[in-house]
Amino acid sequence: MSTVQEADTSGVQDTAGGRTPVLQGKGMVKTFGRVIGLDGVDLEVYPGEVLAIIGDNGAGKSTLIKCLSGAYALDAGQISLDGHPVTFKKPQEARDAGIETVYQTLAIIPALDIASNLYLAREERRPGPLGSVLRMLDKKGMRDRASSAVQGLGIQTIQNMGQTVETLSGGQRQAVAVARAAAFGSKVVILDEPTAALGVKEGNAVLDMIKRLRDKGLPVILISHNMPHVWEVADRIHIQRLARRAAVITPQSHTMNDGVAIMTGAMTVEGNDATKEAV
Ligand SMILES: Nc1ncnc2c1ncn2[C@@H]1O[C@H](COP(=O)(O)OP(=O)(O)OP(=O)(O)O)[C@@H](O)[C@H]1O
Ligand SMILES: [Mg+2]
Repeated sequence: MSTVQEADTSGVQDTAGGRTPVLQGKGMVKTFGRVIGLDGVDLEVYPGEVLAIIGDNGAGKSTLIKCLSGAYALDAGQISLDGHPVTFKKPQEARDAGIETVYQTLAIIPALDIASNLYLAREERRPGPLGSVLRMLDKKGMRDRASSAVQGLGIQTIQNMGQTVETLSGGQRQAVAVARAAAFGSKVVILDEPTAALGVKEGNAVLDMIKRLRDKGLPVILISHNMPHVWEVADRIHIQRLARRAAVITPQSHTMNDGVAIMTGAMTVEGNDATKEAV
């Protein structure tokens, strides 16, 4: 289980308009030998917002979300969930706490079917003694619910939930991973490049899903290189550059060109701090 220290919330309440971030990282440092992945990065995501993370290749975006989701341990810094310090020793602990992550390298098992992938590590048993005593899996129930999760995402091209994931197209696989996160995330959904392998229609379906999650009050962290997508759905944009947070902007405060200029270092934003704009 995750380590939640109930007593000590000192210094973790960085509020915007009196609100506590659902998920917050402070002073996060992660090194890989001599390579610095994160160099004292702060991040906060508030209820019902889409926080985009943009940045060049190698800027530390995936490292950042891997630290937030328990895949990597921080060398220094602190992560808080609902204002309480947490330490996730593995991704399953973060999932148990309600943080669902779709990694850039998808964590799906190709040889299993779609329904089994959706219910990976959270299989449901049949009701009554068949499930509780004989431990029989509720395969039909899982298949039906998997089907509605994938349909809900607007991905109509997957016809058979019993199809193994290895037989799906790359985009369909990505859709399955996103559907899984959307179906089970209860605190935060983190998506690392969810639309990279998707066609226009499927990419738009994922954007619609992100908006629906936000409208339900669930915050989404979206890493993307697709600037039009980011400017369409993001409430705030965290710009990662050379292992640091270069700025936090909004689609209203800055243009896409500004965002790219900050990403590449062509524009600097002195004292920028849009962390307080999330109201
Ligand atoms: N497991 C690892 N071992 C060694 N170095 C790593 C490891 N993971 C990341 N790095 C390094 O940390 C830096 C940040 O990598 P990261 O994957 O976070 O970048 P990114 O912003 O996600 O890039 P991209 O846009 O290409 O996905 C890079 O220099 C990378 O080589
Ligand atoms: Mg990455």
